[in-house]
Amino acid sequence: MSSNRIDALSPGTFTLDDEEVEFGPGDTILQAATRAGHYIPHLCWHPDFHPNGSCRLCTVKVNGRSGAACTVHAASGQEVESNTDELNAQRKTLLQMLFVEGNHFCPSCEKSGNCLLQATAYEMGMEDPHFEEFYPDRPLDASHPDLLLDLNRCILCGLCVRASAEEDHKNVFAIGGHGVATHLLVNSASGQLADSELKPHDRAANICPVGAILPKRRGFAIPIGQRKYDNKPVSQQIEEGTP
Ligand code: SF4
Ligand code: FES
Repeated sequence: MSSNRIDALSPGTFTLDDEEVEFGPGDTILQAATRAGHYIPHLCWHPDFHPNGSCRLCTVKVNGRSGAACTVHAASGQEVESNTDELNAQRKTLLQMLFVEGNHFCPSCEKSGNCLLQATAYEMGMEDPHFEEFYPDRPLDASHPDLLLDLNRCILCGLCVRASAEEDHKNVFAIGGHGVATHLLVNSASGQLADSELKPHDRAANICPVGAILPKRRGFAIPIGQRKYDNKPVSQQIEEGTP
């Protein structure tokens, strides 16, 4: 058994940007850091589901080597760097790539103010898209009586896939395709949401961190000024334990 494996099974402490963080058996760095009220930027991780390490926003340096904080297990004595100019600049670039790859036109998006992608872009000081926009023309699935799926806003975080499999036990979603053609798939004979088992109260229908899966007949219901990220940045909400 390697020492890393032993550490993964025992509690201990590591340092995150020179602050000591306690971890429990089996914790990843991101799990332990978030529980202790330290913000490490992330999009595809959610505490209720297994990590999948796809967005790379949580990339940190562990003893000088890059790794995704959501998948690297915490171990005693690790020196983890996260809030550095170099890592935050990389995060801003990743966010800019996500914005240009889809159609993220926040002023006309119902999720604006409640969107983790937008809030993280504010957090990282992203002031422009920097890269040339792709302007994709992916299908919008409005077939479901209660839910809407806009693949032009999907960041392929896989949270709906995991929520449907791990909590709803329905496997409504999957991610398929390759490279720039990678996309979210709906598991039904027609490929349409209306023919899937997705119900409006399913966890998978309510987990999307962006505006890709939205309820129908509820638009712009929360006044500006009261939306989730209007007053407190995402970092502060996590530091206060109210993400
Ligand atoms: S629809 Fe939403 S939750 Fe599902 S993969 Fe896309 S961004 Fe993630
Ligand atoms: S949160 Fe770790 S890779 Fe997305």
